[in-house]
Amino acid sequence: MLCRSADLIAEAHASGSGIAAFNVITLEHVQAVAEAARRTGRPAIVQISQNAVRHHGGDVMPLATATTAAAGGSDARLALHLDHVEDVALLHRTAECGASSVMFDASRLPDEENIAATREAVRWAHGQGLFVEAELGEIGGKGSAHTPGARTDPGDAARFVAETGVDALAVAVGSSHAMVSRTAALDLGLIARLRDEVPVPLVLHGSSGVPHETLRAALAHGMTKINIGTLLNVSFTRAVRATLAESPDLVDPRRYLAPARDAMTDAVADCLTALGTPGAR
Ligand code: G3H
Ligand code: ZN
Repeated sequence: MLCRSADLIAEAHASGSGIAAFNVITLEHVQAVAEAARRTGRPAIVQISQNAVRHHGGDVMPLATATTAAAGGSDARLALHLDHVEDVALLHRTAECGASSVMFDASRLPDEENIAATREAVRWAHGQGLFVEAELGEIGGKGSAHTPGARTDPGDAARFVAETGVDALAVAVGSSHAMVSRTAALDLGLIARLRDEVPVPLVLHGSSGVPHETLRAALAHGMTKINIGTLLNVSFTRAVRATLAESPDLVDPRRYLAPARDAMTDAVADCLTALGTPGAR
């Protein structure tokens, strides 16, 4: 069923169980998340990034409609979120595409400009009943010269939340986007300090590079929303490569997309299971 992100995040924040959010690119990604959530009995957030929208010709509706339809036809609790939205025109499509939350990402801007832009985004989004995530202390690996060593200062984070009114905050604590091996180390002490000073749920980006036991430790220290994207693509592409290597003459995409979808489903289910049971904190 299609749920509201705010409800899933509030439940995860209160129980300490965390909520995983998976970035989708193709219909098979959407189906994999829905099936893994059904199989494990755990809720999940499906995220569509601005980059994924660009891949689909700049129109959010096809993938968003697929997601809300998949959620509506499933017993699993699923919510739709727009991720890393920098473009205000896309922000303004959040509600109409069926998403109940959006990450407005002005983290490339200097902090004061990030605050002003985010405050305006929040003002608009709250008027639509939307939940807003933002980022302070840019998390590395987004494709430019951003340092993976960035860290979010707890005092700055508290001030950012107070001045913008955001509902959740993405923080830089050691993870980096687009890692294909699980070797990232997180600053758990910093996560605990952020939890103590920041009154809204914390979001970990770049979680594909974080070992499962470290993700569980991050939840225990106060992280709530766990964003995972690259891991699905690693599983997808590995399965496609293996299928095509085995059958080089194959041309029907269903023959390689089906194993790719199965591989993503297993990877998502592993993550959902690894994050543990509600109330684990
Ligand atoms: O916002 C999306 C996430 O931060 C995904 O990061 O692809 O490195 O797992 P990842
Ligand atoms: Zn991210």
